[in-house]
Amino acid sequence: MTTSIFQNDIFKGKVAFVTGGGSGICKGMTEALMRHGADSVIVSRTLSKLEVAAKELAERTGRRCLPLACDVRNYADLETAFRKAQEHYGRIDIVICGAAGNFLASAERLSANGFKTVMEIDTIGTFNTCKAALPHLKQTKGCIISVSATFHYVGSPLQIHAAAAKAGVDAMTRTLAAEWGAYGIRINTITPGPIAGTTGMEKLTTKDTVDLVESVVPLKTWGQIRDIEYATLFLAHPESARFISGAVLVVDGGQWLVSGGGIVPESQWRGKL
Ligand code: COA
Repeated sequence: MTTSIFQNDIFKGKVAFVTGGGSGICKGMTEALMRHGADSVIVSRTLSKLEVAAKELAERTGRRCLPLACDVRNYADLETAFRKAQEHYGRIDIVICGAAGNFLASAERLSANGFKTVMEIDTIGTFNTCKAALPHLKQTKGCIISVSATFHYVGSPLQIHAAAAKAGVDAMTRTLAAEWGAYGIRINTITPGPIAGTTGMEKLTTKDTVDLVESVVPLKTWGQIRDIEYATLFLAHPESARFISGAVLVVDGGQWLVSGGGIVPESQWRGKL
């Protein structure tokens, strides 16, 4: 997002804590909040990569970015990361649960450990993040945005692990919205469709499917990271989304409606994955 339709100081004085914020869509979400005045914390497993991303984000936006190593599968890691973030900035307002893992694999070939790994990163990781965030968000009446997918809306081949995991993420969004609304905390989900230039597109399509945009997306174009950035700004802001909690905002150009959750034709995967 080089220019924005939002005023550039709408998150001034706020702090965003983003799991998976060192790369891809979640880095874009972090940058968008920073460009609009927020400081940030980005967490993921590899500190060396995070440090590079944090420096870049700070240089591009003029805001502060704190990189912290953390495996979302470990609750204790998250408690520590939130404590350090709180000590560093004195507050946490926006939490984005973005850390995720995925790959194409048929249920027949996927190992039990492969299934468990994605469940642990996406579903348990999101629970751990939300739970560790709670004492901090209670103080600021902040918000949580989870990142989900559309795979579980239909039967999406090669995505049994991610479909199950993201169904859990959507369920938690609704439960937490019901439970934590009383604290003034809003919990919502952004569900990106096919977003060009991301790890997701790289890992979840094959070379040939990239050319299928005309038939798989009603709007006839791939999404851009900025599409997710705008959704983030809208849902994170306490004024524009004041009365929105428990929502799942699908940003996919209508893709899942016409082509389901996956875009690899069966002829390309049957017997191979
Ligand atoms: N196909 C099938 N199984 C796979 C796989 C693939 N492409 N990649 C990993 N697995 C399986 C492994 O074989 C292993 O199971 P096994 O012990 O039975 O062999 C299991 O998943 C765990 O793999 P491992 O590499 O040890 O896990 P990890 O925690 O290091 O990595 C992943 C997690 C697999 C999700 C990895 O792809 C990752 O970290 N991705 C992060 C980025 C990402 O995927 N983003 C997705 C955006 S859509």
